Amino acid sequence: MSDLTIAMPKGRIFEEALALWRKAGLPAPPDLDADSRKLIVSLPGANLSFFLAKPMDVPTYVEYGVADLGVVGKDVLLEVSRDVYELLDLKISPCRIAVAGMPDWSPPLHPRVATKYPGIAERYFKEQGQQVEVIHLNGSIELAPLIGLADRIVDIVSTGKTLRENGLVELEQITTVTSRLIANRASYRLKNELIHSVCDRLAKVVQRGVVV
Ligand code: PRP
Repeated sequence: MSDLTIAMPKGRIFEEALALWRKAGLPAPPDLDADSRKLIVSLPGANLSFFLAKPMDVPTYVEYGVADLGVVGKDVLLEVSRDVYELLDLKISPCRIAVAGMPDWSPPLHPRVATKYPGIAERYFKEQGQQVEVIHLNGSIELAPLIGLADRIVDIVSTGKTLRENGLVELEQITTVTSRLIANRASYRLKNELIHSVCDRLAKVVQRGVVV
């Protein structure tokens, strides 16, 4: 059996992805937890190895073939548009990408929009026929309208807590997001049997609607 390398995202998706993996009866690393600083774990008996990457980088590792499979949010796939196969909607970590802002703020004709997702934001406002200036930030996006950097933000909304706690409101929903299983194109051909068996097992758990 050939080896399979899987890129897992650090952060909020990780625990849910690992739980799903285990529910599917797939060998999972015992000592790879979200708090660990360890980045690579191999399971020699199972011919599997996992590594932890920044979510935005997961499709890059998969496209270049250093990972055969990856788990990543649809938000990332929409933003980075890498050449990978999207095999399965894992239905975990549901959230949405939304436009948000201060409730009592009338933006100017060409508003400034702060976001971690410049590609998604540019496309969305273009489709709306609205001219905006997109400002790319790397995190804590909710700060931008509070301190006068931007009139609006485009960001992930999950529970809505971050918006609420900062006095912001969701104004428009751009798209819904769940996590996906992705594959490297060459691996998909060369390790087809192994990848299919992993994908099928995960699909069965997803179909059963197992809440993780
Ligand atoms: C994400 C997102 C929001 C928050 C939304 O940030 O950018 O800030 O989570 O979640 P909520 O609706 O449940 O409050 P993340 O925690 O990934 O950190 P970041 O701000 O550094 O990007």
